[in-house]
Amino acid sequence: MTTDAPGPLSRAENKLERALETAQEQVRRLICDHPAQIPIFTAAGRWHFDEDAWAPPWTGGFLAGMVWIFAERTNDPWWTLQAQKYSELLEPRKLDEGTHDIGFLFTPSWGRWHRLHPSDHTRDVIIQAGRTMARRFNGAGKYLPTWVDPGSTFIDVMMNVDIVFQAAELSGDAALADIARQHAMTTRRFLVRGDGSTAHEGWFDPDSGEFLRTATHQGFRSDSCWARGQAWAIYGFGSVYARTRDERFLDTARRCADFYIEQTGRRRIPANDWNDPAPEFPYEASAASIAAAAMLQLSSLAGPQGSRYREYAAGILERLCTPEFLGSWEQGYEGILKHAIYHRNNNLGVDESVMWGDHYFVEAVHRMTQGLGKAAGG
Ligand code: GLY
Repeated sequence: MTTDAPGPLSRAENKLERALETAQEQVRRLICDHPAQIPIFTAAGRWHFDEDAWAPPWTGGFLAGMVWIFAERTNDPWWTLQAQKYSELLEPRKLDEGTHDIGFLFTPSWGRWHRLHPSDHTRDVIIQAGRTMARRFNGAGKYLPTWVDPGSTFIDVMMNVDIVFQAAELSGDAALADIARQHAMTTRRFLVRGDGSTAHEGWFDPDSGEFLRTATHQGFRSDSCWARGQAWAIYGFGSVYARTRDERFLDTARRCADFYIEQTGRRRIPANDWNDPAPEFPYEASAASIAAAAMLQLSSLAGPQGSRYREYAAGILERLCTPEFLGSWEQGYEGILKHAIYHRNNNLGVDESVMWGDHYFVEAVHRMTQGLGKAAGG
């Protein structure tokens, strides 16, 4: 005789469920105490609401994205209402030509909304956001430039090509998919090194398209490997493989993941940059939460070899679910994931919680507790 009753949870599953409950409570308090405000990082554990002192606003999608995950998990209309409200706050940005971070804004928010409750409106917003991102394309160098300069691209931009693929699929405009694919090929060629490590930034001559050099803003130096950039690469190339099924992107995602694993080992949480010989802070926990979400995605794409990435991601989450890394309001801490770093060199959000660290932690734990079926976006 069979029964539909769920079996008892293992200790690890229990720990993940408790971590999600804590995360949900932290976000509920943030929404209730600071309605419609979108923080970037904490200062001494308290959310900080000043404008981003480095980049054009790029983090709004992470709060909306967490709220959509809680809406999906709970089926509670309050969470769905909040998820819609926080996504709607971002809608005008679908026309923002001043940033390359359109995917960070729209994939976790409107992308999840469309997956859960598709409508003509969600479809149109995603198509417009993807078209705006694609308009940045530099045809000579075949890359999507950053807000820094028409000659610059970042490894982070790999997280912003999926919105272009989504727009291509929803509109049937194959030219959009081609732009997204070309950017990924250029990044693979110039920003991913032979050992699977990544450079943060690539510089091109924007007129001729000639590749000039690598550089960094948030890492140790131009020839080093910034840990969060590496995690963006694992996630970004995995997402491009999920859209294109071009094995070269799966190979790149795997080589980037293997480099992360090789460099970090049983410690699981890297410092800000693997090449910094004396990091001032031992951890950049947001790199680890992104890597966990990225490796769970990769494990669902990589066939029999995927179990290596699932096991490593489970180890990352086990460590992040300890009191050393998990914040709670009762202890006067407002973020979810402690010990992340936004911008060490500019002294922004150092050894604090950052919105994307919290978001990808919630996404990874959610993926882990739900099984691994979905490829991109959690
Ligand atoms: N701008 C993306 C990052 O700081 O990771």
